[in-house]
Amino acid sequence: MNLYARIPNNVNLDKDPRLQRALERWLPNYLDWWREMGPAGFQEKDVYLRTAISVEPDGWAHYDYVKMPDYRWGIFLTPPAPEAKIGFGDNYGKPAYQEVPGEFRNPLRRIVVTQGDTEPASVEQQQRLGHTCPSLYDLRNLFQVNVEEGRHLWAMVYLLHGYFGRDGREEAEELLQRRSGNPDKPRILQAFNQPCDDWLNFYCFTMFTDRDGKYQLCALAESGFEPLQRTCKFMLTEEAYHMFVGEAGVGRVVRRSAQLMEESKNGDARELGGIPLDIIQKHINFWYTYSLDLFGGEISSNSADFFAAGLKGRYREQESFEDHIAAGGVLNIEIIEDHQVKSREAPLRNALNEVLRGEYAKDCERGLARWNKILAEEGVAERLYLPSRRFHRHVGEYARHRFDIHGALISQEEFERRISEWLPTEQDREYVRSLMTPVTEPGKIANWIAPPATGTNRQPFDFEYVRL
Ligand SMILES: [Fe+2]
Ligand SMILES: [Fe+2]
Repeated sequence: MNLYARIPNNVNLDKDPRLQRALERWLPNYLDWWREMGPAGFQEKDVYLRTAISVEPDGWAHYDYVKMPDYRWGIFLTPPAPEAKIGFGDNYGKPAYQEVPGEFRNPLRRIVVTQGDTEPASVEQQQRLGHTCPSLYDLRNLFQVNVEEGRHLWAMVYLLHGYFGRDGREEAEELLQRRSGNPDKPRILQAFNQPCDDWLNFYCFTMFTDRDGKYQLCALAESGFEPLQRTCKFMLTEEAYHMFVGEAGVGRVVRRSAQLMEESKNGDARELGGIPLDIIQKHINFWYTYSLDLFGGEISSNSADFFAAGLKGRYREQESFEDHIAAGGVLNIEIIEDHQVKSREAPLRNALNEVLRGEYAKDCERGLARWNKILAEEGVAERLYLPSRRFHRHVGEYARHRFDIHGALISQEEFERRISEWLPTEQDREYVRSLMTPVTEPGKIANWIAPPATGTNRQPFDFEYVRL
């Protein structure tokens, strides 16, 4: 591991001068992007950050005050497995690809670019949140997520520069050119062009959208293209933390809202400056459904081709399945025909997006159950839930129709009439924003959210997580 090189890495960059030069040319552009689009207003502050000092599990335990532009971004892959094999598909058991297989060059580049694009996009979406942080603890968490998304961009850019030649280099430049929410040069995926300008949105985003990232990375961490597999495995160690920030964050909002409901005479959290549960529910509906879109169409020939080639596997392909060929299976998919929801069999390999989406949905359900446990603990009878997977979709089978929150087919008129019951309205968003006054005194926290159960790295909650 070369941690103090200009580009910290564990891939022997110094033995590959061409790649090293290419990445060193990209580095200043990356830093320009970070200064322009990274956390606004806090670049010169000391932040108590976790930094990778090795790829071993204990290499994560290193915390120190760092100014974000000095963060050790770099290229870290899990160590290669000796004699790695392709773990699934038509080439099952053959030696893993060390180079991009020619016939999959374009689609594989597309996968890497699309994944890579989400990383800077989320930093851009979260750029101004620091100004309204509910506590120093939360401010640090935000910045930790931001610098790690920056490192994920590095991971994908390493693959582009290292394995895709000239078009890879061009794509790496473009990753720094697109901007979240910019109509002229938007980010590739729609969830990453949505505004994320208050902390309720931030927690929902890290709960639901970063969790999509986990499942995509898990599927790519099975890949028979070894550099991709090793890159994604290491990214997953960071992704778990982002989802913790989201799930615990929403959980703390839920707890505080429940407490304020109990305290208020009319059972209304809003009376005491809290976020009502129905507004939380609408944010869940919004981010969950946008995140479902990220898995792609329910029936997809791409997913079949990628699986066949051994490039993108299933969630926990090695641990959870005996049959890694998956050639004969089928899956029932609900489609819309004659204006009705009907079930149709699809070949399993064509339905793998839906299989992965199903794993994701189960994982989200577990999070909802934990939030509902908080409501029960606080003595509130209402419960939060996930909407139907058909509701509010922009990709796949359900995108051309309208559904209510339970998945029943409805008309466009009814959808428009009832949309404000299901998705955040402009008034909801304004109300949430009105609560977002910054709290930056160590140990203090905003009124609309409960403090965390424990601090970061066993520090107390009143620790000075960011020196302002
Ligand atoms: Fe990421
Ligand atoms: Fe993330």
